Amino acid sequence: MSKLIINGGNKLYGEITAESAKNGLLPLLSACILYEGKVTFINCPKIKDILVMLEIIKYLGGKYVFNNENLTVDCSTLHSYELPCELTKKIRASIFTIGAIIARFRKAYFCMPGGCSIGDRPIDIHLDVFKKLGVEVCGDTIVYCRADRLNGAEITLKYKSVGATINALLASITADGKTIIRNVAKEPEITSLITLLKKFGAKINGEGTSTLVVNGVKRLKKENVTFYPISDRIEVGTYVLALLSTGGEIQINNVNFIHNLSLFKKIQNNTCKMVYEDDKIYIKSSGEGSGLGVVKTAPYPFFPTDLQPQISSYATTLKGETTIIETVFENRLKHFDGLKVMGANVLVKGNTAKIKGVNRLTGANVCAYDLRGGASMVIAGLKCDGETVVSNAEVIDRGYYNLEEKLLKLGAKIKRTEL
Ligand code: UD1
Repeated sequence: MSKLIINGGNKLYGEITAESAKNGLLPLLSACILYEGKVTFINCPKIKDILVMLEIIKYLGGKYVFNNENLTVDCSTLHSYELPCELTKKIRASIFTIGAIIARFRKAYFCMPGGCSIGDRPIDIHLDVFKKLGVEVCGDTIVYCRADRLNGAEITLKYKSVGATINALLASITADGKTIIRNVAKEPEITSLITLLKKFGAKINGEGTSTLVVNGVKRLKKENVTFYPISDRIEVGTYVLALLSTGGEIQINNVNFIHNLSLFKKIQNNTCKMVYEDDKIYIKSSGEGSGLGVVKTAPYPFFPTDLQPQISSYATTLKGETTIIETVFENRLKHFDGLKVMGANVLVKGNTAKIKGVNRLTGANVCAYDLRGGASMVIAGLKCDGETVVSNAEVIDRGYYNLEEKLLKLGAKIKRTEL
């Protein structure tokens, strides 16, 4: 078990570069399953969730190789449609592979990816999509999918689920005829996936809108593809919120400003200076500011649930009140337990947290219950008085590459111990 030990109080100064998006790469890697050419991803961070996804691909018979930061995946030799249970349970995103496996083999066999600390995370919408496309689905803890043929269909997702949108796309691109998918997720990671699928030869229209139209193709191309994944907007948001919490001046490279617009709008009154040029953002902050009003999470382009724990941490020391409303996951306010131990004034009721800003937080022993909740503990540790020990820190490694190195480079006092 890893612990992060942080001595808070240092302002952050310097320059860092954001990684390619973890949540962008996981669907891109899933898409490789249905492609027989080699795909090279430029700049792929070796973070845990991505490494698990690559192990899944290897288990299924595919190959991958890292050449420094670039990753090449070759699924021409893929032979299995059975997902390994142990790996499937390690990452929720293992479910993203099923649409591609069905498209390739017309069958798939997998165990449920399981719930996690932020909620139950059912897969009913994914399974409904498969059924609409003509797939027979049996079982509950172990699921077997089979289709003689995939038929284009009209599908309306009951929620803008990111994963179900991914599976609907992957399963329909080689289906017979046209598939219309309504109420889809519009996250930038979906648009990036569509760009890759088009390079594979898929015929998809409507990216960036709520309705996608897929005209099934008989065969995809087989030529080699090079692809540039989008930048990690959640990682960018995490460092921006860390900077606002401590004060200082930082530049982050490899940023797409539009992808983080909902965050930048929320914080603009609390920044001394914010400049965006090319793909770089420069931010200066005194570390002080006013309460944020209401921060309500919702599917893109609204405020991302994956930045809610981090902005909650930031809000604990702002003058005035902030109300956090979590609408995407039913149990994603657990980080407030740790923030309260550190002295935050918060009232949590249902999916809402009312924060009254305090002057300072105090270092304490806290736990990273989940990936983004862990990032929120780190932000609190960076700005508080004294020492903070964040246990279960390996969960943070699922989504942040070189976290300590980047924070040390910005002047934070942070180190890791392994038990
Ligand atoms: C993806 C992201 C995750 C992010 C989430 C919402 C990746 C690897 N993960 O997860 O970081 O927090 O989008 O932006 O990209 N739901 C159902 N039934 C389903 C599917 C989803 O009820 O079949 C519910 C979920 O329980 C949740 C909500 O819909 O409450 C959103 O989930 P979804 O958008 O599917 O999230 P993921 O794709 O799993």
